[in-house]
Amino acid sequence: MSVVEQVDVSTRAAAIEYAIRDVVIPAVELEAQGHEIIRLNIGDPLAYEGLPTPEHMVTAFKAALDRQDNGYGPSYGIPELRSAIAFAESAKGWNCSPDDVYVTHGVTEALQVIFAAFLEEGDTVLVPGPHYPPYMAYPQMYGGNTVEYRLDPEDGWRIDLEDIRSKMDDTVRLLVLINPNNPTGNVAKPEEIDSFIAIANDWPKCTIVADEIYDGLDFTGQQCSVASRSKSTPVITLNGVSKVYFAPGWRVGYMAWHDPSGTLVAVRDGVERLLRSRLCASTPAQHGFLAGLVDDQGWLEGHCERIRRRMDYCLKRIASIDGLECEAPGGAFYLFVRITDPEIAANDKSFVLDLLHQHHVLLVHGSGFSPEYGSGHFRMVCLPPVEVLAEALDRIEAFLGD
Ligand SMILES: Cc1ncc(COP(=O)(O)O)c(C=O)c1O
Repeated sequence: MSVVEQVDVSTRAAAIEYAIRDVVIPAVELEAQGHEIIRLNIGDPLAYEGLPTPEHMVTAFKAALDRQDNGYGPSYGIPELRSAIAFAESAKGWNCSPDDVYVTHGVTEALQVIFAAFLEEGDTVLVPGPHYPPYMAYPQMYGGNTVEYRLDPEDGWRIDLEDIRSKMDDTVRLLVLINPNNPTGNVAKPEEIDSFIAIANDWPKCTIVADEIYDGLDFTGQQCSVASRSKSTPVITLNGVSKVYFAPGWRVGYMAWHDPSGTLVAVRDGVERLLRSRLCASTPAQHGFLAGLVDDQGWLEGHCERIRRRMDYCLKRIASIDGLECEAPGGAFYLFVRITDPEIAANDKSFVLDLLHQHHVLLVHGSGFSPEYGSGHFRMVCLPPVEVLAEALDRIEAFLGD
C-alpha cells in the first residue's frame, strides 16, 4: 500500500492544547459504544438542570431575530451594549466610558486580540499557575511565552506575590489575574490586588489583564474590580455572558480598557484594526446580553444559591473520601481536588483517563491547567444536580478503593 505524504501542520497549531475539551475525545468514543458518561469537565451551566439563561435575555435575543436585526454590527459592539457595559463597569468603581469597551466573541476572542496586539517575539505573558488553558495555548501563536506565577496550594491557592516579583522583567508585557480563578476558585482580597498592581506599576511596559468572568459568582463578598483599584497601571478587564449570565453558547464577551496614564494609545489602535478586520460580534446575541445588563438581576441569587448547595455537597463528600482533599473555593463553580496518594498523583492524566474508561466519569487532569502547579489534582465542575454529583462521587470513591 502506498503511503500518503502528509502536509505539514504549523508549529503554532500543533502546540495547541485545551485539556478541558481534549479529554472529551475518548469520552465521545465511549458514548458511541453505548456508555453513559457523567461529564464534569466543562464549565457550562446549560449542560445541567436548574441553571438556565434568564428568560428576559432569551426573549431579547429572539426579538432581535424577529425584527431581522441580523446584519453586521459595528466592529467594537452595538452602541447600546457598549454604554450598558461602561455603566456596569463604572458601577464597580472606575471611570469607564463606552469608548473604552470592545465587544468580542467571548473573552476567548478578546484574549487572542490582546495577545496579537501586544506581543512580539520573546515577550512574556505572566499568568497564574494553575490557569484557564488558553493563557498558555495562545501567546505562543504570536511569538510570546507564557510563564506561570505560583498560587499557593497550602493557602487556598492565594497569589504568591513574591513569586510574581521574582519573575517580573522587561519582557513581561501582560500580567494576568483571573479573579475568581479557574480552576481553583480563589478570590483575591482587595489588599492583595493592591500589591499585585504595585508590582506591575514598577514595570512601565506591563499591562494587567483582569479576567473577571466569574465576578458575580463570588461567595466571599470580597471580589473587586482590578481596574477600580489602579490609579496609573493600565488594566484591561475581561467579562461577558458565559458564566454570570449563564449563556456561554452565545459567544459574547468584552474587554474594557482602563488606561489612566495614557500609555496604550498605539496598542489600542492595533486592537481596533484587528477588531475591524474580524468584522463584529453576533448582533442578536449582543441584544440578549444588553437585556441581562439593564434588567433586574435578582434572578442571579437563585442560581448562586443552587451552585452553592451543589458545591457544598461535593466538598462534604470529598472530605469523607480517603485519598482526596479540597479546600472550599471563594467563587466560580469548580473544585480543584488534590489526590493525596503520591503514586496516583504523579500521573493525574492517567487517573482521569482510567476513571473515565472504568467508571464513566469525566474530569479534567490538573496538569492540563498547569504542568508545574496543577499536577496531582483534578478539576470537577459542581454544576449538576446533587443526585448526579452523588453518583459521580460514588464512582470516584469506588475507583480509589479499587
Ligand atoms: C477564566 C476564564 N476566562 C474565560 C473563559 C471563556 O470565556 P468566553 O466564553 O467568554 O470565551 C473561561 C471559560 O471557562 C474561563 O474560565
